[in-house]
Amino acid sequence: MDQLKRQAAARALEEVRDGMQLGLGTGSTAKHFVELLGERVAGGLKVIGVPTSEATRADAERCGVKLTTLDEIDHLDITVDGADEIDPELNLIKGGGGALLREKIVAAASDRMIVIADDSKWVPTLGKFPLPVEVIPFGLGATRRAIEKAFADCGVSGQMAVRKAKDGHVFVTDGGHWIVDAQLGRIADPASLAKALSAIPGVVEHGLFIGLASSAVLAGGGGIRVIER
Ligand code: 5RP
Repeated sequence: MDQLKRQAAARALEEVRDGMQLGLGTGSTAKHFVELLGERVAGGLKVIGVPTSEATRADAERCGVKLTTLDEIDHLDITVDGADEIDPELNLIKGGGGALLREKIVAAASDRMIVIADDSKWVPTLGKFPLPVEVIPFGLGATRRAIEKAFADCGVSGQMAVRKAKDGHVFVTDGGHWIVDAQLGRIADPASLAKALSAIPGVVEHGLFIGLASSAVLAGGGGIRVIER
């Protein structure tokens, strides 16, 4: 699986040109991309990156990739990031690694978003992977009830749980928020659900990425497949 992730990352790297401003995703697949990018930078490629998490910031620094922020530059040429699920319209579930807020800000500021993954992430319909919803801890009971109502209005339902870190404490995002993971099974209309969740005051962001990905690079046993939107 790790080999496949690296192959997808290597294929995405072929799109990178000298002078580009890049969004750097989070997760094990995106980490391969940062490492391979670091090798090209060591060989003379000049790029600058905006990391989507503190973990990616540390990886990029370790690999010698120069970093900036979205305050210092006004757009990104390409963001390369992983995903937890990818559907045939290139809608995504993201946030398994907890970085969905910064990932979405960075993707939205990019001319193109290339999703890299092993082909186990390709699904006919989103929803088997628990949907991460980033929330403000204050008033969580009210926010959870509003989320349940949004689910019902969009014809989905399922168990919700506040994400825990490995040490058993509540998982806290880079932005200081919590994540509620919702086991929905099947999301028939992800665009409507995305809209409904975004309208809830205590929801900071959710892991449905609708219309953001420009292409997906999927690595599988039979080779690499590139799907364009
Ligand atoms: C982090 C993410 C990741 O891109 C997603 O979880 C995929 O991770 P991996 O490449 O490790 O499978 O959305 O918030």
